[in-house]
Amino acid sequence: MQVTLSVIKADVGGFVGHSSSHPEVLDKARKSMDKAKKQGMLIDYHVTRCGDDLQLIMTHEMGENNGAIHKLAWDTFLECTEVAKRLKLHGAGQDLLSDAFSGNVKGMGPGVAEMQFEEREAETIIIFMADKTSSGAWNLPLYKMFADPFNTIGLVIASNMHKGFSFEVHDVKGHKKIVFHAPEEIYDMLVFMGAPSHYAVKAVYHRETGEIAAVSSTERLSLIAGRYVGKDDPVCVVRSQGQFPAVGEILEPFTMPTLVEGWMRGSHHGPLMPVAVEQSNPSRFDGPPRVISLGFQIANGMLVGPRDMFDDPSFDDARHLANQAAEYMRRHGPFEPHRLPLEEMEYTTMPQVMKKLEVRFTDL
Ligand code: F6R
Ligand code: MG
Ligand code: MG
Repeated sequence: MQVTLSVIKADVGGFVGHSSSHPEVLDKARKSMDKAKKQGMLIDYHVTRCGDDLQLIMTHEMGENNGAIHKLAWDTFLECTEVAKRLKLHGAGQDLLSDAFSGNVKGMGPGVAEMQFEEREAETIIIFMADKTSSGAWNLPLYKMFADPFNTIGLVIASNMHKGFSFEVHDVKGHKKIVFHAPEEIYDMLVFMGAPSHYAVKAVYHRETGEIAAVSSTERLSLIAGRYVGKDDPVCVVRSQGQFPAVGEILEPFTMPTLVEGWMRGSHHGPLMPVAVEQSNPSRFDGPPRVISLGFQIANGMLVGPRDMFDDPSFDDARHLANQAAEYMRRHGPFEPHRLPLEEMEYTTMPQVMKKLEVRFTDL
């Protein structure tokens, strides 16, 4: 059976500030999804949140980029925005950049990760969702999962993974894409992947079967809007087990809280802390950035689960390390590399300050 898994997310209002989501907003989303399921449009759904981002996880048989599914997500975000407005939540509707829906939510503010696949005998899926960071945050974890034998031993000792994986990398500024083949092209690939604000991994494919292994949202809100409108807070879907990395190989990269861009005012580097859904409430300096992961078995399109994968003491040390890194970075205050370089900052007073001081700058 061909199933499509669509994860579409947006920040439609934060509670309190940008720290978390209000239960009434989530309830509204569930009602809307439930109606679509009863009408037969969706096979199944799960509504959750990561920090202030509302996450719609949907299964259906209508393929990727389907207008009806995207409209359902868009209308759900609009209905939730109404709730957010009534409660005067912060930034109600902040990610909905357009007034009129034009057939696809891509480029309109929400983040999208979709994959269509033939459901396997057992279809294990892990969905990662992040808050207070940008698309590109998945580059390092995806590299480790699918190309690093120190992370994924299956690349070495499992015959169905030994040929490696292909990475589709998007130049999010130049609007181009390229496919790299791991392992033989990893040095070329890392030249680009190592610059996640410019190059983001969109998808990963199994090299022998060509099957989709992972897909992420690469929408860059600031590039779409041309101004600061909040962080991308991206999502990523990964297939697991069999010819794909095992669950533990997929989670392993997050034991290292990598430094990502985002955090306060989308303008800082900070550690990506793996947490349970209930702990995805970034509060210290509006952070540090969070990642949650939900695991499902898919059975005839039904989402069996979720299991909250980071709700596990084996990630306590990663959280501890993230807090230590957060403290270390915070002590830099307004200095780089805690603060992003001027050209990467989402919020900047630079043009106004420069204009004011222009006359006082003299040649050396
Ligand atoms: C970062 C984020 C927050 C806000 C900050 C100011 O992604 O969402 O750090 O940038 O709280 O928010 P506003 O400008 O909405 O008052
Ligand atoms: Mg927000
Ligand atoms: Mg957010």
